[in-house]
Amino acid sequence: MALNSGEAMIIALDGPAASGKGTLARRLAAHFGLPHLDTGLLYRAAARALIDSGDRLDDESRAVAAARGLALTDFNEEVLRGREMGEAASVVAAIPAVRAVLLDTQRAFASRPGGAVLDGRDVGTVICPEADVKIFVTANLETRANRRALELAKRGEKVDYADVLADILKRDQRDSSRTSAPLLRADDAATLDTTHLDVNAAFAAALKIVSGRATHMGSA
Ligand code: C5P
Repeated sequence: MALNSGEAMIIALDGPAASGKGTLARRLAAHFGLPHLDTGLLYRAAARALIDSGDRLDDESRAVAAARGLALTDFNEEVLRGREMGEAASVVAAIPAVRAVLLDTQRAFASRPGGAVLDGRDVGTVICPEADVKIFVTANLETRANRRALELAKRGEKVDYADVLADILKRDQRDSSRTSAPLLRADDAATLDTTHLDVNAAFAAALKIVSGRATHMGSA
């Protein structure tokens, strides 16, 4: 499918941990030739910087300095994707001043000519409320824990399914209950439940949502 010529398209995907939004975002970006930003990496990288400098994850001024120092191009995903980094990122992400620092960076990325695909927790609600397409990606807890356990095992991490499930539950609760930009489905987002979908079926469903929205854009 091609985009309407000359039109920029912003695609926002949000959802809880291991819902499949990252994989979908990467595939949509490749399909439409758009740049992709995994916004979770920003919080993971800020958390990593704090850990590396021996600072506490809830030290607001150090966390703000860490967030200010981030460059979008130097994410070491090998380090940032580890199990403990998701938990650490979620602690840092609950600090409103950190989110404020990262807001402009994410908005600047989204307003690139041609558009962009961003995935995270608050893309459709806070970062890009004007996004052309919003998808809230979800899946049941057990499915998400299975996926994350497999992913971590592939990375060579020693994982226990029950621990991974407990991690995800704790992180979802923190992300959903924080006061600043909690994990929330935007009112105008389409929900995509990937519980019973493999990657290809989920991608086909996401494309259908985008194409429905793009047709609407063209006729607007
Ligand atoms: O998506 P990922 O698991 O990499 O995100 C790590 C953590 O970063 C999340 O649990 C959440 O606390 C935080 N995050 C956020 N807002 C985003 C993306 C991620 O608060 N837009």
